[in-house]
Amino acid sequence: MLPKLRLAKMDDISALQELIPRSVRQLQKDYYSHELREGALGSVFGVDSQLIKDGTYFVVENNTAIIGCGGWSYRKLLYGSDQLHTIDEFSLLDPKLDAARVRAFFVDPNYVRKGIGTAILKACEEAIIVNGYTRAELVATLTGEPLYTSYGYIAVERYDIGLKNGLFLPVVRMLKSLDV
Ligand SMILES: CC(C)(COP(=O)(O)OP(=O)(O)OC[C@H]1O[C@@H](n2cnc3c(N)ncnc32)[C@H](O)[C@@H]1OP(=O)(O)O)[C@@H](O)C(=O)NCCC(=O)NCCS
Repeated sequence: MLPKLRLAKMDDISALQELIPRSVRQLQKDYYSHELREGALGSVFGVDSQLIKDGTYFVVENNTAIIGCGGWSYRKLLYGSDQLHTIDEFSLLDPKLDAARVRAFFVDPNYVRKGIGTAILKACEEAIIVNGYTRAELVATLTGEPLYTSYGYIAVERYDIGLKNGLFLPVVRMLKSLDV
């Protein structure tokens, strides 16, 4: 069966909780140290169930498992799992003023570089445009940066996210104008 893209459901959370650490631990090896990856797991990298509730999170599945996930958001929050949110970050963006967020992409290491990230990104951008936004913004890992660069996202700021273990995770804020 060809991989199928669909909206995530709350029932998918346990599969996502297994996929995300596996993706981070294997695919970020060349970009971040073990300590950085472990410090970011569960807080910066993890399930954001609000995205699932909002109907803005996608999964890609083959006939046996979920092999990729990622989404977009009409809320302020730029990154992070359920453990990281503050109330203000749940507030809504204004499509006339703000850029929609692109959020939380993780692909199964056994299916990397097969266009799964691309398929999810295209689905997000289509939904973002349908919802009236003309720009997309995201905070990319150094692992994710080449994917977004290849689809026209421009790096506008590099900074570090403070982690629970006292280390700092280098990330890049990226923007794209969506032609509508
Ligand atoms: C980033 C990630 C989602 C990319 O997923 P993917 O399904 O492998 O991406 P795609 O196959 O759609 O890649 C499309 C294009 O992006 C670029 N690209 C993606 N990953 C790349 C990499 N590691 N190095 C260089 N270019 C890359 C390439 O141009 C690629 O096209 P090509 O394979 O024909 O050369 C995946 O590596 C991942 O899950 N990483 C770990 C978690 C993470 O850091 N997520 C990012 C959060 S911002």
